[in-house]
Amino acid sequence: MMSWPTWLPLRADLTPLSPYGAPQVPADAAMNTNENPYPPSPDLQSAIAQAVEKVAMTLNRYPDRDATHLRIALSSYINDVSSIQITDSNIWAANGSNEIIQSLFLAFGGASAIGFTPSYSMHPLIAKVAGTAWIDGSRNLDLTFNFDMAKSQIIQHKPTLTFLTTPNNPTGDAISIEEISQLAIVVAGHGGLLIVDEAYAEFSSERSAVTLIGAHPHVVIIRTMSKAFAFAGARLGYLVADPRVVDAMMLVRLPYHLSSITQAVARVALDYREELLGNVETLITAREGLVSQLKALGLTTRPSGANFILFTGFSKTAPQLWRALLEKGVLIRDVGLSSYLRVSIGNEAENKAFIKALKEVL
Ligand SMILES: Cc1ncc(COP(=O)(O)O)c(C=O)c1O
Repeated sequence: MMSWPTWLPLRADLTPLSPYGAPQVPADAAMNTNENPYPPSPDLQSAIAQAVEKVAMTLNRYPDRDATHLRIALSSYINDVSSIQITDSNIWAANGSNEIIQSLFLAFGGASAIGFTPSYSMHPLIAKVAGTAWIDGSRNLDLTFNFDMAKSQIIQHKPTLTFLTTPNNPTGDAISIEEISQLAIVVAGHGGLLIVDEAYAEFSSERSAVTLIGAHPHVVIIRTMSKAFAFAGARLGYLVADPRVVDAMMLVRLPYHLSSITQAVARVALDYREELLGNVETLITAREGLVSQLKALGLTTRPSGANFILFTGFSKTAPQLWRALLEKGVLIRDVGLSSYLRVSIGNEAENKAFIKALKEVL
């Protein structure tokens, strides 16, 4: 726990918290934050540079507060990949899906929220910062999602916000659309919202929950361009929901929160989606290759529909193995589970370096 000086009038409920802190240390193979290892192609780089040059002429003006053109482009992407018919009125965009999560808490977090842990660590952290009571729902002992347990915990606690992360970070497992739609009915029963965090959706073969919003207006889907679109540095996340949810986002957003530069470059990346989603296929193939190689080393992997793998079955502790790999130049993630480590799928050279280092230190 951090120690704070007595003169600092920090809110008492924040003093026990620690800031988000995935180590940002130099490594030959950076496989710790589920980034996409493929940088923008030279073509995309120059299209981005051109878009920035164009927008530079207007930087004396505030951006479009409602990011309308970008939201139209995002809705057309979702319509294409999920065969639905939504419009910009169903989309809200922000600086990364973390800002979307924060806005959801600001708008709807007056009472309580539940998530099924271990899951994305920022859900409870943002809840606490926003002053929302957080409930740790549980998963199976092997860390996979347990539908019946989740259902009874939702019925017991009646949280305003129920978070499902699918595929889940850090475990990798996905929840079927049938189970999500059943939980949507349960959540509607007490007037809550079902927040489905689909940061890794493009890497999964499950149907997206965006297909549910027509029938279930209290389902909100969070997406990001940080992973499949290889755009983590640009910071662009969005939600897909009923237009009334989007209206509520406008109450809590800061004016002009999304810069003209961000809006312009995100539209360029969406134009290049064929190329970018091609890399997703490469990463899925590499994921399956890594799973086989980890198994061949006697390790156990959790099923993954994402761009990372959670593995166990090593004799060192997780911090020991993490450190030994870092000493070999390979940075993966100790997610705080004593016998598990998580590795993000890298490029060919990184994946090779990871397996080579692992063979040496296991
Ligand atoms: C499940 C999940 N949601 C949201 C995020 C945040 O992504 P971003 O803010 O880059 O969109 C992450 C990042 O790792 C994640 O794993």
